[in-house]
Amino acid sequence: MGLNKKKTTKDVMTFHIKARECAVYIKKHSSALVVSHIDADGLTSAAIMGKALERAGLDYDIRFAKQLDGAVLAGIADSNPELVIFTDLGSGMLDAIKSLKLNAVVSDHHQPQGTFEHHLNPHLFGFHGATEVSGSGVTYLIASSLGNNADFADLAIVGAVGDLQHVKHGQLIGLNRQIMEEGAKNGVLRYEKDLLLFGKQTRPIFKLLQYSSDPFLPGISGSEDSSIEFLKKIGIRQHGEKWRRWIDLEAVEKQQIVSSLFQFCLSSGMPVSSIQRLIGEVYTLLREREGTEVRDASEYSTLLNATARYDHADIGLAVCMGDRGKSYEEASALLNEHRKNLVEGINLVKEQGTVRMEHLQYFDSGNKIRETIVGIVAGMCSSFVNHDMPIIAFADSDGGVKVSSRGNYELIRKGLNLGNAIGEAARAVGGTGGGHDIAAGAFIPCNAKNEFLKILDSKIGSQIR
Ligand code: C5P
Ligand code: C5P
Ligand code: ZN
Repeated sequence: MGLNKKKTTKDVMTFHIKARECAVYIKKHSSALVVSHIDADGLTSAAIMGKALERAGLDYDIRFAKQLDGAVLAGIADSNPELVIFTDLGSGMLDAIKSLKLNAVVSDHHQPQGTFEHHLNPHLFGFHGATEVSGSGVTYLIASSLGNNADFADLAIVGAVGDLQHVKHGQLIGLNRQIMEEGAKNGVLRYEKDLLLFGKQTRPIFKLLQYSSDPFLPGISGSEDSSIEFLKKIGIRQHGEKWRRWIDLEAVEKQQIVSSLFQFCLSSGMPVSSIQRLIGEVYTLLREREGTEVRDASEYSTLLNATARYDHADIGLAVCMGDRGKSYEEASALLNEHRKNLVEGINLVKEQGTVRMEHLQYFDSGNKIRETIVGIVAGMCSSFVNHDMPIIAFADSDGGVKVSSRGNYELIRKGLNLGNAIGEAARAVGGTGGGHDIAAGAFIPCNAKNEFLKILDSKIGSQIR
């Protein structure tokens, strides 16, 4: 069957049939090794699969990888697992997986390279892997065929939001939306339009303004004093010494803040498309306690990134599995570090600026930004660097260089596909890479940066011409 060929028309039915086929194959085994990615989408994917395997009576282990390369694959093969289930990774390494002759299922949403029999990926059924379903959503759909696992719809949505799949349209679309509706129907989650600024569950309101990076609020973002002044000026009161959180405000106060922010942005001359990004769909996890990070899909996903991207995937996984005690506390502590690192990373790029080539701009953070968060920093910088070119970032890594890249939808409309460009340029210099049209990454040899940039610049040039 030609199921591994890329399709252009959406085919939900065949997608579900393939999900069921993967589930049937999994059930032929008594144990599995789940291998997943070290970010929010990867953690939620692994948790969904782990729980579903447990319910189906299979033994399982979970392992995480920064990226799936030859060495990681060799390590997996060495442990001789009965079955390997790759979640949120694998689609970029299908031929290598095939050559290991392992029993394996790949449940992923990255742009596929190669073919594989038990491979569930939205791109093969006409769906867009960067907006319509994430690794956690694909995995949720397999889990739904493994048993009654509809209660994991909330985790699936946390993964999608962690991958910023709701950003392009201001709401989840495609298969994500179906999963979301299922979660709402089953009472595990709620969706509504609200302010999109980060931290509505847990932070005093002035922090939402102070840390707003998309949109960047000129004169307010980055300044605690100006943020507080803005709120006081529009009549938002403190309770004694304390600023309330967004969730503590009265509806009229929320409306007041939103309309004042709109006015402020308009009078600052911001484009309407940026101002619109103040409002969008937000996702609330109804089984979680109000006022905690895990109540809001966006805050939850950041909490998870704060663990897995710092070698503590076990802590994030435990949180996904339901631990609201010790692991939750540990994750919260890591979250403070993560926030600090992101602010420092953004400041570094602001100070250092980017180098412009003909079709791309880049910055090299050396050892100043951790390779596992340099992509997040590059994404956050997109709001203040020029929009006419994608942004490429380098960070030192063990035995090589980590590359991250972020584009925008205007460039994609013109033909940009970073996953393809980065993948090809990386392979041309002896590295590996891939991802999505809007965001991609690679690992290349230390001395290959200039050659890589030259090739990448020309590939991007030919894509958007
Ligand atoms: O590996 P993976 O699929 O997890 O990651 C997707 C990446 O794409 C995320 O880092 C996310 O930030 C990025 N992305 C983005 N803008 C979008 C959609 C995805 O930067 N509109
Ligand atoms: O690491 P970063 O956040 O920049 O990754 C952007 C996207 O590229 C993610 O979806 C990630 O999984 C993918 N990627 C990849 N192969 C790599 C590095 C990143 O597919 N070697
Ligand atoms: Zn993902």
